[in-house]
Amino acid sequence: MTDIEQHLADLEDRGLYRRMRLISGPQGARVLLDGKPVLVMCSNNYLGLADHPRVREAAAEAARRWGVGSSGSRLISGNMTVHRRLEKRLAEFKGTEAALLFGSGYLANTGVIPALTRPGDVVFSDEYNHASIVDGCRLSKAEVFVYDHADLEHLAWGLRQARGSGSLIVTDSLFSMDGDVAPLEGIIELARDHDARVMVDEAHAVGCVGPGGRGAVAAAGLTGEVDVIVGTLGKALGSYGAYVACDTQVARFLVNESRPFIFSTAPAPPVAAAALEALEILIAEPRRVQRLRQNGELFRRELVKHGFEVDPAGRQIVPLITGDAKSAMTMTEKALERGVFAQGIRPPTVPENLCRLRVSVMASHKPDELRAAARVLAQAAADAGFNDSTGMPGEFAAPPRFIDDDEDRLASVA
Ligand SMILES: Cc1ncc(COP(=O)(O)O)c(C=O)c1O
Repeated sequence: MTDIEQHLADLEDRGLYRRMRLISGPQGARVLLDGKPVLVMCSNNYLGLADHPRVREAAAEAARRWGVGSSGSRLISGNMTVHRRLEKRLAEFKGTEAALLFGSGYLANTGVIPALTRPGDVVFSDEYNHASIVDGCRLSKAEVFVYDHADLEHLAWGLRQARGSGSLIVTDSLFSMDGDVAPLEGIIELARDHDARVMVDEAHAVGCVGPGGRGAVAAAGLTGEVDVIVGTLGKALGSYGAYVACDTQVARFLVNESRPFIFSTAPAPPVAAAALEALEILIAEPRRVQRLRQNGELFRRELVKHGFEVDPAGRQIVPLITGDAKSAMTMTEKALERGVFAQGIRPPTVPENLCRLRVSVMASHKPDELRAAARVLAQAAADAGFNDSTGMPGEFAAPPRFIDDDEDRLASVA
C-alpha cells in the first residue's frame, strides 16, 4: 500500500473520506443530484441568483462583447472596463470609497492578511473563522493569536498582551458553519482602544443581512469603522469571485502589495458581468433579502417544532450538530433517501466533536418545501439513531417524536 492509499483508507475508517456529488443542470432549489431529484438545503445560492435569467444573459452578453478570458493580471494586460464598473458599483453598494476585485474569497483572505501585516505584528483571529482566513494568517509573517469564538474578553486579554505591536483583528461577520453574527461593535471598540485594524469577512452576510443585504457591518452602522470588508460574489450574488471594500489608500496599497491580486489572472468578463447584474437585481429587489430572512425564520420554527434545539431568531445557516463524523454522514444519507440534500460537515472544516449538517435556506425555497425539509431532517435524525436526546452534544437534541405521514409530502419534495 502506498502512503497515499494508506491515508485514503485511514480517512474512510474515520468517516472523513470525501467524494464529490454531481449536479446535472443549473443550480436551484431543486436539482438532479447524482441523477436523483432532490430539494437542496445546503447551497450558498441564497437569493436564487445563480440561475436567474438576467444574470445568465449578462454572462452570455459579456462573452459575446468581451470574450471569455481576461488574459492576465489586472496589473499587466487584464484590467477591463467590466472590472471597473463592477468595482464602482460594489463600492457604492457597500458605502466605501473603493472596492477591489479578487479571483475568489479564498484569494482575497490569503491576499489581504499577509499584505496588511509584518513580522512583529499580531493577527487576532476568531477560532471559527473560515479556512481561507486561517490560511491567510499562516501566510502572514505576523504572530497569530486565535481567540475563543466571539469571546470579547479573550480578545481583549490577547490585545493587552500584545501591547505595542501592530495588530489586525479579523473575523467572519456571519459565521459560515454556525450562522451566528460576530460581536462587531465590541470588536470595533477594542480595536479603537488598542489601535488595531479590523478586517471583516462578509461572505455569508452580503445579500443576506443588513439594509438591502449590505451586510452585518452596515446593519451595525459600522461601515466607516472597519478597515477592510471582504465579500464574495459566488454565494448570494450567484457568480464567482470576491471583493475588498475599503478606502482608496488601502485599495492602492493592496494593488501594490497583495500577491493574489498581483500574481493571478483577473476575473473572467462573463463572471464579472454576471456578478454586476446580480448586484443590480439585489439593489432593485430588496424583497429577496426579506424573503430569505422570513424563510430562515420559518425553517427554524419548523425545526423547533420537530424537537431540534435551534435559535428561532437565527439566520439562513442552521447547524444541526451530530457530534461525530459518521453520524453526520448517516444523517445526510438518510435525508437524501427522502429527497432532501443537506451535506454533512466534518473536520477539518469543523472541530472533531462538532460534526454537523450545515443546513442553509434560500429565498427561492417555498414555505411548503421548508416544512417538508424540517420533517425529513427529523426523520433522518431518527433513522441515524438520534431517538434519545441523552448524551447528544451541542445544540441538537433529538426530535421527541417523528411524523410518519411524510411520504406524500416527500414525493412532492422530490
Ligand atoms: C467566510 C468565508 N470566507 C471566504 C470564503 C471563500 O470564498 P470563495 O468560495 O469565493 O473562495 C468562504 C467560502 O465558503 C467563506 O465561507
